[in-house]
Amino acid sequence: GKSGYEHYMLKEIHEQPRALRQCLRGRVDELSGTVDIGDLGDLSPTGVQFVACGTSYHAALHGAQLFREAGIPSQAFLASEYATATPPIGDALVVGVTQSGETADTLSALRAARRRGARTLAVTNVVGSTAARECDHALYIRAGPEIGVAATKTFASQLAALNLLALGTSSTGDARQVISALRDLPGHVQEILDESAAQEIAEIYQDADAYFFIGRGYHEPVALEGALKMKEITYKHAEGFAAGELKHGPLALVTENTPVFAIVTGDDERARKTVGNVKEVEARDAPVVAITDGQSDVSRYADHVLELPETHPRAAAVLANIHLQLVSYHTAALLGRNIDKPRNLAKSVTVE
Ligand code: F6R
Repeated sequence: GKSGYEHYMLKEIHEQPRALRQCLRGRVDELSGTVDIGDLGDLSPTGVQFVACGTSYHAALHGAQLFREAGIPSQAFLASEYATATPPIGDALVVGVTQSGETADTLSALRAARRRGARTLAVTNVVGSTAARECDHALYIRAGPEIGVAATKTFASQLAALNLLALGTSSTGDARQVISALRDLPGHVQEILDESAAQEIAEIYQDADAYFFIGRGYHEPVALEGALKMKEITYKHAEGFAAGELKHGPLALVTENTPVFAIVTGDDERARKTVGNVKEVEARDAPVVAITDGQSDVSRYADHVLELPETHPRAAAVLANIHLQLVSYHTAALLGRNIDKPRNLAKSVTVE
């Protein structure tokens, strides 16, 4: 049942601390600062190609960034494109990210890769799913069953699992910081669930013409995910962009009736550039909601702030997404939408 929550989506949003703990349990040794993902640790890929759809594609974009940061060439592909125009694979490991393990486009892409002799890995939530059975390897995200059509806790768990995969199969200079940020993640998520101002934001902007989401680096896939969730359950126009792309076209859509959600953490060059993009938006009188840890001066140009703790940017991406899930959920609730079963959508898409 819904354990007292009005919708499965809200229940599943609140299950994220537990889902993340389950994903990390036994796989992270905090004392030694190492990750244990069993046999998968021996994969040592020289290249990684991710294939996925929808929310799982956004997780795949995060995963590809992780491997590139570890010096391993990596790219995320939309499964529906990859299946019909399979790129050269070389000796890359092909990773299908699929919550259900049954998405037809993703299964086709994985089959195309296997036909070309690639090793394949399924990152999935469902033990015994088609993807898990057909791939050479499986990494389970252990989020528990997800009933709401909109993916929520499984996205957080996918990001955590992909961090484990990257840490377990490659080496980066800041592995210890990442592991410590992962360890803090369930508690940080709980703080956001307890304190987020998302509902107020939803109330203020429920009549907006459209919603835009921007971010750089690890925050770009979250911007895309924020927009997907918003359109999926509110039926309102929403778009996510890499922050730098705003001025190359989408800025023409920005008005005083289109709130812009900007994810900005840290105070490095990336953050400063996104703050620059926020200033462009503010100059056009669009309301700005900053999702920030307060290290940059973005809040000076923002109408509202959704607060994040200071942590590794990879973990901050998971946390920013919690606020955005809540904004979408509360907006959809105010608009009286059928949140757990949005029109025209199915939980698992078994046709190409
Ligand atoms: C969005 C959503 C879909 C799925 C997509 C892939 O909330 O749920 O975009 O992410 O259909 O599904 P899986 O991960 O089962 O392959």
